[in-house]
Amino acid sequence: MDEPRLKLAIQKSGRLTDPSLDLLVRCGLKISRGKDQLMAFGENMPLDVLFVRDDDIPDLVQEDVCDLGLVGLNVLEEKRLELAARGHPVRFQQVRNLDFGRCRLSLAVPQGASFEGASSLRGRRIATTYPFLLENYLRERDIEAQIVTLSGAVEIAPRLGRADLICDLVSTGSTLQANHLREVETVLESHAVLIRTPLALAPVKDEWVERLLMRIDGVQQVRESKYIMLHAPRDALPEIRKLLPGSESPTIIPLEGFPDRVAIHAVCRENVFWETLESLKKAGASALLVLPVEKMLA
Ligand code: PRP
Ligand code: ZN
Repeated sequence: MDEPRLKLAIQKSGRLTDPSLDLLVRCGLKISRGKDQLMAFGENMPLDVLFVRDDDIPDLVQEDVCDLGLVGLNVLEEKRLELAARGHPVRFQQVRNLDFGRCRLSLAVPQGASFEGASSLRGRRIATTYPFLLENYLRERDIEAQIVTLSGAVEIAPRLGRADLICDLVSTGSTLQANHLREVETVLESHAVLIRTPLALAPVKDEWVERLLMRIDGVQQVRESKYIMLHAPRDALPEIRKLLPGSESPTIIPLEGFPDRVAIHAVCRENVFWETLESLKKAGASALLVLPVEKMLA
């Protein structure tokens, strides 16, 4: 019998596609993907990647077609509310927050239109592809407004006279700008998340989910991490340790022939800026070297 294989859904084309593939590659996955192919075969892991519309990703996990999905929190939360409204159980679990796909669901009004807080929404028509999140936002503020649910091209709704304002995803803000709209309130801050089915998986699949999660943690940790090496006077150690950003226990190495100087090696879990290096130098450090970290396993 064939070995069971994990199915992971990612966005076919859009803001999450490249960073999702990049994450998988950094986790060690080798995939072969033909042009316009819907599914890519994992060559070195029992894991296949499905390329789908992002809005379909929660459903694919919900309906047990896929075991895993990489999707925006915006899409996920909308689906969660939709399922609740229909009285359906949620059949996906959010297992990791990811450090990409940052954007926000925001309210935007035509440039020149006035806006004085959420109460300005009363009685207005708001166009969106996120009716459940918007309804939730309005309900929490006790505001009655008309939600105009569209399937796309929300940004042109005010110009077409279909709505007074919009509630849409903003990333760089260039879509709003191109359509003469002004962002006024944030409804939801979003980033990519990894979801999985709550159902029990075959042991082989389960083991690979665990390995993938561990690798994702490692990848996310090293993105910001740096390995720093320097020489310092022994008596400047306390001050230097304080200056090293996000490092727990640096390695202190004696320097042959220099009894009052030591070498310090440390992993900094934050970026090391020029300012930090300058402060370290001022504290007596020399021979400073900052290296990128490629892999990390706690
Ligand atoms: C969103 C939104 C805007 C655009 C905003 O669409 O509807 O069109 O992104 O991004 P910007 O601020 O960088 O201009 P998305 O890419 O999510 O497409 P989809 O809703 O069809 O998935
Ligand atoms: Zn979409």
